[in-house]
Amino acid sequence: MAAQMTATKVPEVRDITRIERIGAHSHIRGLGLDDALEPRQVCQGMVGQLAARRAAGIILEMIKDGHIAGRAVLIAGQPGTGKTAIAMGIAQSLGQDTPFTAIAGSEIFSLEMSKTEALSQAFRKAIGVRIKEETEIIEGEVVEIQIDRPATGTGTKVGKLTLKTTEMETIYDLGSKMIESLSKERVQAGDVITIDKATGKINKLGRSFTRARDYDAMGAQTQFVQCPEGELQKRKEVVHTVSLHEIDVINSRTQGFLALFSGDTGEIKSEVREQINAKVSEWREEGKAEIIPGVLFIDEVHMLDMECFSFLNRALESDLSPVLIMATNRGITRIRGTNYQSPHGIPIDLLDRLIIIATSPYSEKETRQILKIRYEEEDVELSEEALTVLTRIGLETSLRYAIQLISTAGVVCRKRGGTEVQVEDIKRVYSLFLDESRSSQYMKEYQDSFLFNETQAAQMDTS
Ligand SMILES: Nc1ncnc2c1ncn2[C@@H]1O[C@H](COP(=O)(O)OP(=O)(O)OP(=O)(O)O)[C@@H](O)[C@H]1O
Ligand SMILES: [Mg+2]
Repeated sequence: MAAQMTATKVPEVRDITRIERIGAHSHIRGLGLDDALEPRQVCQGMVGQLAARRAAGIILEMIKDGHIAGRAVLIAGQPGTGKTAIAMGIAQSLGQDTPFTAIAGSEIFSLEMSKTEALSQAFRKAIGVRIKEETEIIEGEVVEIQIDRPATGTGTKVGKLTLKTTEMETIYDLGSKMIESLSKERVQAGDVITIDKATGKINKLGRSFTRARDYDAMGAQTQFVQCPEGELQKRKEVVHTVSLHEIDVINSRTQGFLALFSGDTGEIKSEVREQINAKVSEWREEGKAEIIPGVLFIDEVHMLDMECFSFLNRALESDLSPVLIMATNRGITRIRGTNYQSPHGIPIDLLDRLIIIATSPYSEKETRQILKIRYEEEDVELSEEALTVLTRIGLETSLRYAIQLISTAGVVCRKRGGTEVQVEDIKRVYSLFLDESRSSQYMKEYQDSFLFNETQAAQMDTS
């Protein structure tokens, strides 16, 4: 089992947000806090919402310390007040090794597996296991590389590599693969290198001090290192981080590790999970592995139903639990699938375990700042007056609607041959695209001509 596991690395969740270049939150690069965890008014793409960012900063600090596994946080506030943005800010500020998994409450209903299985997988994606392993390496200073090219010009190359330490010198035979990696890494005589014996991976540590005086092939950033001491062959400790979910998938016999790439993981048997939990805790006791509780973010958490909430309650009590962050914009509403009303549509027993961060609507100045950051992110130029108009729209309709108008106004502006969006472009797109309140107004006026019209449908229902 161990050999299989160490062959893969954690695919970074954060990579996904990087691919989506101008997604809704691509301007967010962190929580924008200073060293004392105080939020700066505008920093790392974040504007205002100071109290919530300060609170998120404290949570972030606790996550980094690894102290709050099994805790749950709820970010609650009106639509468009930056709840998802704050969660993304937390994700950006976590270290490379701390897993962050984000799902939307509705997602778990559309997968081809049970709701609780989908939640289990999400939980286990958010728990990292740092595995320590010893590997054998060869570490030494290159004395000479000798490559024999076949006289015909084709066929396999062969060669010899001479490595030394302060105490010994050995000649190694080189195959064509090693020759290729040596030339790819531009290894020369005088370099200190390591070669992983299992994988053949070559790593250049720097130039040997003994060569400090040859100034051929030396750039300003050349790093000098000592010629290694002792034996050429050494054992070295390497560390990989994988998520519990990846270990599950690799070890579930029916799927194999290819499932990790196809994403087609299916349901994982509970026996597999139990075995893995047992194995991981064994490794922990032996000091071979360390658990890194990451973050599971469930957006639109009011979309979950009773069954899911009860799963969350229980999962938070397990000693292999990440930090759960949830977000909702609902007030007092029905818990999905029941007739009970509850704050945020979350059962009281779960609410009781949460710490709640509230977000509040933005001022005019803040709205203007956010819009400014957004148009810079989308590479659209806006005149001062256009920004003022857009800010008004943002305040009177919604921040999201105003953000949407930026790119559409950009297109309209380009079409008329302009380079900077003017008030007229904003007016144009404002008349072309309805915001929520104008759209409802329109519906009310023309409701009879729509298909499936039911006036009650105006009352929002989440189930
Ligand atoms: N404080 C902020 N600084 C910078 N950008 C922000 C801030 N708050 C919100 N935004 C941006 O405004 C848009 C709407 O915010 P977001 O999606 O986070 O709202 P939300 O609270 O999650 O709303 P909903 O309840 O509808 O899900 C996003 O593009 C977001 O990145
Ligand atoms: Mg949101």
